[in-house]
Amino acid sequence: MAIRIGVIGGGVFGEIHLQTFSQCQRDGKCELVALADVNEEILAKRKQQYGVKTYVDYKEMLARENLDGVGVVTPDPMHLPMVLDALDAGCHVLVEKPMDVTVEGCEKMVAAARKAKRLLEVDFHKRFDPYHIALRDAIAAGKLGKPLYAYAYMENPVYVPRDWWPAWVHRSSPAWFLGSHFIDLYRWVIGRKNGLRVYASGSKNKLKSLGVDTYDCIQAKIDFEDGISLNLDTGWVLPSEFAAIVNQGIRVIGTEGILEIDSQNRGAEGCLAGEKYATLNLGFKLYSQDKWGNPRYSGYGFESIADLVENIAFLKSGGSLEQLDGKYPDGRDGTEVTRILCAVHESVATGKLVEIKR
Ligand SMILES: NC(=O)c1ccc[n+]([C@@H]2O[C@H](COP(=O)([O-])OP(=O)(O)OC[C@H]3O[C@@H](n4cnc5c(N)ncnc54)[C@H](O)[C@@H]3O)[C@@H](O)[C@H]2O)c1
Repeated sequence: MAIRIGVIGGGVFGEIHLQTFSQCQRDGKCELVALADVNEEILAKRKQQYGVKTYVDYKEMLARENLDGVGVVTPDPMHLPMVLDALDAGCHVLVEKPMDVTVEGCEKMVAAARKAKRLLEVDFHKRFDPYHIALRDAIAAGKLGKPLYAYAYMENPVYVPRDWWPAWVHRSSPAWFLGSHFIDLYRWVIGRKNGLRVYASGSKNKLKSLGVDTYDCIQAKIDFEDGISLNLDTGWVLPSEFAAIVNQGIRVIGTEGILEIDSQNRGAEGCLAGEKYATLNLGFKLYSQDKWGNPRYSGYGFESIADLVENIAFLKSGGSLEQLDGKYPDGRDGTEVTRILCAVHESVATGKLVEIKR
């Protein structure tokens, strides 16, 4: 029986969910049934692009469409009610990062998923990047010895916070939007350790001068269990002319080794007609076409979303949630990332070192 998928939120990143599930549909793995969004213009456009049924009220979509799985791709502070309602309707859920902007909200989601016996997956796509998988495997094989410390950075050009989400950018930050990815990645490669304490600082300068009330940058030093630490720089003010939409990388040092990954410049760069000089992160999204002219996407940005369909197929064929445990970014991982990020923002606000309570 086909796996019926719906999406809540059809904006900038909702389109990546729609592209992914459309491809899964062409591959016979699921049926992309419906999209819910409060913006009727977006609904009309996506209906034309993806042939989905559309709903202004996501609750109506959940009530009518008998969905197996739902992607929640609404603004960061709005995920909670949609995730709870989707689980309550019996759906498996893939929620965008950050899972929620409060620990309490995350814990409610985890409890609801447990009660409903449904999958709660978080779209932490860094885990699906083959370069990062190599990092995890090197650490797991002891090739770095005992991990000690790391440095990670993730930055967007200024047009991302300035132009993309005028309605909710003031409720986000470079740490929420970007840092969540690398905190999850680092936890994953060091064996899902918990955060112990955080010191962070941030600055409101350029974006404020442009009328955007959020941080230009947030830098955090995060201590994890077992004497392992992470220095994380996140920023939202690279020049618009910067060669890519994301600048990012990670280096991890252990007692016996070091591995450094430029997660942005994978060696493909150039200047295409009518475009600026750019580096192409083909690891995230590699576009090609099948012989019928249909788009084909590959890359970690797509695989992490398609993983919802893979997991539902596994469960429908008789597999259990217990068997999947640890094999995807789950609600506990999302909760821990949010717990650390709440401490990061508390430290920025107070100027103090924050001990993480649990
Ligand atoms: N995984 C990634 O790399 C990645 C990248 C970009 C964004 N994101 C995350 O995806 C989420 C969405 O980001 P975006 O860039 O698509 O934002 P966006 O503002 O472009 O899209 C959000 C959509 O949600 C819709 N919406 C708002 N309230 C709604 C409601 N009550 N019911 C239904 N729809 C509603 C809006 O109309 C809008 O179309 C955020 O959590 C963001 O952090 C993740």
